[in-house]
Amino acid sequence: MVAELQNSDTTRFRRNLARANPLAYIERFQAPATMPETKQRPIVIRDLEGFEDLQKAEAVEREVWTLADRDALPMTMAVATKAAGSIWIGAFDGNEMAGFAFGFLGIENGHLMLHSHMLAVREPYRDLDVGHKLKLAQRDRALAMRLQEMTWTFDPLQSKNAHLNFGKLGVISNSYKVDFYGPETSSMLHRNSTDRLWVTWPMTSRRVRDRLEGKDNRPELLDLLSRLLPLIQFNGDGKPVRTDLAAALSRQRIAIEIPSDILVVERKDPELAREWRLATRWAFTEALKAGFFVAEFCLMVRGKQGPGVYLLEKGLVEEYVPEMVRATSSAR
Ligand SMILES: CC(C)(COP(=O)(O)OP(=O)(O)OC[C@H]1O[C@@H](n2cnc3c(N)ncnc32)[C@H](O)[C@@H]1OP(=O)(O)O)[C@@H](O)C(=O)NCCC(=O)NCCS
Repeated sequence: MVAELQNSDTTRFRRNLARANPLAYIERFQAPATMPETKQRPIVIRDLEGFEDLQKAEAVEREVWTLADRDALPMTMAVATKAAGSIWIGAFDGNEMAGFAFGFLGIENGHLMLHSHMLAVREPYRDLDVGHKLKLAQRDRALAMRLQEMTWTFDPLQSKNAHLNFGKLGVISNSYKVDFYGPETSSMLHRNSTDRLWVTWPMTSRRVRDRLEGKDNRPELLDLLSRLLPLIQFNGDGKPVRTDLAAALSRQRIAIEIPSDILVVERKDPELAREWRLATRWAFTEALKAGFFVAEFCLMVRGKQGPGVYLLEKGLVEEYVPEMVRATSSAR
């Protein structure tokens, strides 16, 4: 799979690179004989092949998650999973790896599925659709293995991941894991505990196919959300406020707000980030326990600024997505 970066993407790439790695930016764009600004650079999405590719993935893993040795996937394990048929896919800019995805086979509710353990895109290549394209390639491989569902986890306070997962891909979730990887790890992304939403991607469902075709349900969602009092809501100072739980649980839908960039909050005010963790943990666990599932995520303002909102629906995911024929209650 080859994806061309458009001119607007090239500008975004240059800005990202300048911010993340000024030296590389100078070498690439300010030294003589560098690629002209207008040239479109192909990003190639392909399966990882040998030891060298896996080493590149390890380097990207360490860079993206800033990991200590004990938390990085051992090379021996990477080699073994690859040899045993797991799916390793990379996004390449020439010889450089821009990102990768790694998934292995698992079983949930008696069904074989692909569990995607890692998706990483290096800073300069972010917001250029590379993560999305890696997920599409993972989906192609999984469908070729006749799998119907893919699962993975992500931090529900990460607005960007929520937008990618729910908005662009169409995942659904009825499972919240408190401290999934333990209270913390060496990763800078795991400082504020490691709570995760366990999401399912029903890859062949109408919902997902519509999402991948770019059908926009945002106006409808915003309309629904405008009529709900969120269970967790911003107050004027950027703090989370809990509203009446009993009243929220008595309705058909619940909204939960999150900040636009929790990493900025963590850097500036770790106490406030902790407040957001505890408030959203409470809201998700209470709502899921009472029979809701997480159906959507929507940015209040298009783009990256402003809060995002989760929409939870009361009921069973298999009624909402009929292709999901399974005993979902056991996944909680
Ligand atoms: C999550 C990650 C893989 C996404 O990769 P990516 O290539 O930047 O993703 P994409 O460009 O395909 O999609 C990102 C989307 O989020 C949007 N976005 C960016 N910042 C955002 C924010 N603060 N809130 C909401 N959406 C945001 C982008 O605009 C883009 O959406 P669009 O295409 O509708 O404009 C990458 O950020 C990453 O490696 N993060 C660290 C590791 C991680 O969290 N991995 C996944 C969980 S295991």
